[in-house]
Amino acid sequence: MERTVKILGFAGSLRKGSYNRALLRAAGELLPADAQLEIFDLDGIPGFNQDLESTPPDKIKDFKARIRAADAVLIVTPEYNYSVPGVLKNAIDWASRPYGDSAWTGKVLGLMSASTGMLGGARSQYHLRQSFLFLDVKALTKPEIFVTFAAQKFDESGKLTDEATRKVVKDMLQALVALARKS
Ligand code: FNR
Repeated sequence: MERTVKILGFAGSLRKGSYNRALLRAAGELLPADAQLEIFDLDGIPGFNQDLESTPPDKIKDFKARIRAADAVLIVTPEYNYSVPGVLKNAIDWASRPYGDSAWTGKVLGLMSASTGMLGGARSQYHLRQSFLFLDVKALTKPEIFVTFAAQKFDESGKLTDEATRKVVKDMLQALVALARKS
C-alpha cells in the first residue's frame, strides 16, 4: 500500500457557523482511504508585518511547519468583496516570507469556495490562483468546486447534504491526492 498523503486544510472564514468551515469538515468525510486531512484554524493570524518576518509569532511558526509537513494544502474560502478574505491573504503572505524561506514552494493545492450567492466564491479562487503562481504552488485545475447558494446545501448542524456537491468534492480530493503523488 502506498504511503498516506497528508493534506493540511484551512478555511478563509473565522465564523463559527461558516459554510466554508463546514465544507472543509465535509472534505474530511469524503477523503480517499490513502489520504488524511489535518485542519488548521486561521483564528489568531495577525496582520502581516514585514518587520517581524524573520521572527514571526508562534502561530505563524506553527502554520509554516504544518504546511512544510504536508504533501498538499486544501483551502476552502468565501469571497469577500470579490476577493480573498484578509485573514487568509495575511496567512499566505506570512508563510511566504522571509524571501527564500517560503513554506509554499513545491506544494500541491486544492481550492473550494462556498457562497450564499450565485457565483459560489469563484472570484476569490481566481485571485488565489494568481498569488500561488508566484509562490511556485501547483494548483489543481479540475474539478473546480464553487458551492453556490450554500444555505440550501447544508443542514442546521453544518452537514453538507447536497449529494451532487458531495460527489464532486470526493472527485476533487481524489484528483488532489493523485496530483500530490505525481509531484
Ligand atoms: C460577503 N459575501 C459575498 N459573497 C459573494 O458571493 N461575493 C462577495 O464578494 C461577497 N462579499 C462579502 C463580503 C463580506 C465582508 C461578507 C461578510 C460576506 C457573502 C458570503 O458569501 C456569505 O456571507 C458566506 O456565508 C460567507 O462564508 P462563510 O462565513 O459562511 O464561510
